Amino acid sequence: MSNKSDFGLIGLAVMGQNLVLNVESRGFQVSVFNRTVSVTEEFIAKHPGKKLVGAKTLEEFVQSLSRPRKIQIMVKSTAVRDHERDAVDAVIEQLIPLLEEGDIIIDGGNSFYQTTERRDAYLAAKGLRFIGAGVSGGEEGARKGPSIMPGGPPSTWEVMKPIFESIAAKVDGEPCVIHIGPGGAGHYVKMIHNGIEYGDMQLICEAYSIFKAAGLSTDEMAAVFNEWNQGDLQSYLIQISGKALEQRDPETGKPVVELIMDKAGQKGTGQWTLLNAAENAVVISTINAAVEARILSSQKKQRVAASTQLQGPKAQLSLPKAELVQKVHDALYASKIVSYAQGLDLIKTMGEKKNWGLDLGRIAAIWRGGCIIRARFLNRITEAYRNNPQLANLMLDPFFKGVLNGAQQNWRELVSTAMLQGIAVPAFSASLGYYDSYRSERLPANLLQAQRDFFGAHTYERTDKPEGEFFHTQWPEVIE
Ligand code: 6PG
Repeated sequence: MSNKSDFGLIGLAVMGQNLVLNVESRGFQVSVFNRTVSVTEEFIAKHPGKKLVGAKTLEEFVQSLSRPRKIQIMVKSTAVRDHERDAVDAVIEQLIPLLEEGDIIIDGGNSFYQTTERRDAYLAAKGLRFIGAGVSGGEEGARKGPSIMPGGPPSTWEVMKPIFESIAAKVDGEPCVIHIGPGGAGHYVKMIHNGIEYGDMQLICEAYSIFKAAGLSTDEMAAVFNEWNQGDLQSYLIQISGKALEQRDPETGKPVVELIMDKAGQKGTGQWTLLNAAENAVVISTINAAVEARILSSQKKQRVAASTQLQGPKAQLSLPKAELVQKVHDALYASKIVSYAQGLDLIKTMGEKKNWGLDLGRIAAIWRGGCIIRARFLNRITEAYRNNPQLANLMLDPFFKGVLNGAQQNWRELVSTAMLQGIAVPAFSASLGYYDSYRSERLPANLLQAQRDFFGAHTYERTDKPEGEFFHTQWPEVIE
């Protein structure tokens, strides 16, 4: 082992441990530190012969690193508001007096991008460098190769590039990491990645819900998902859904999925995405529906009570299986395209507002491997932006336009059937609503403008006069 380590990591929970093993496996020497020293000791003892240095104190840890020091923090961040400080801030405060100019701190957790911007400015003023890096891929990704979304100054990226590129997942030989942009851009893009992840997951769950109402067994559904995973819907989330449906509970012999309580958890990144979309006036109705579906699912007691009081049809789906599977496939594929169109629209809008210089095609490219939303169709998204970096909406790319035009009839038939049968499909229907609104040459907003002008003299533009000229009508008095 050499004198000094190339990389240091603080926070030896599972993600942290796996990242350390990943970095070490690429030929780097890694120092580790954990608040509870016994965790460090156990970790080092479990991996004899590896180029690992277990430090008992933060001082020892910092001194064991070569300069400029590269220290990744893997502790949970909870701060979202300006005044809030969390575990990441606490670690940073402890590190500051021990570090020297030019040393680099990397926050690899799911931190809120504004918190990252605050930390970036704070550390820069002290001559230290900061990278807020989104890391996706869960435990397995961390070990074998995640998708990494680092923000911060380009000069800091250049220093980190060899390590990041060697530990990231590879697709067609390309590492799933790029310098996303300055400041909070990396954590911002990771947040939208998670919003899209919520959308993907909910859409798959709605497909499952329809199959269930149609009487398919979990094994039949697993077979459908496994087959889809060979085609244009190929994705990690489809793959694990198929695998999850196949899993039997050893105690009861029943499918595990059927034994799991239908109450979804969430840690916040989806909700942050909604807030940011609202702030930027960008429609992300599919992701919105996905977050709200999790919220409603968590209100189990209320739903159980309402189920005996509010009426609806008893679902009876009599479509032939092959036809049903095709319709659900098309609804899922089309809704997924809409969801990505919305998420990318939000990234584009925010990137322009913040002057981050984001490259949507390259961002889609690093999501092709390592991360939770990895999927075959991200190749198509990469191509779409390569062909037209100014693409106004993903749905208008020639390839995706073709898919949507081909799927739209089945998609609307499926959504109408589900609605008539009382099966909740909030994300399928929100996506279709977006599609139909976006493609409407004329929306009923003319009446809305009339209402605004009626009660508040807010004025309106006319279809028969040049844009930008505003009119007001003397509406009649209303007698109530
Ligand atoms: C990833 C995941 C991960 C996230 C949870 C999902 O990209 O690896 O997005 O970062 O923490 O897996 O979070 P929820 O608890 O909100 O579903």
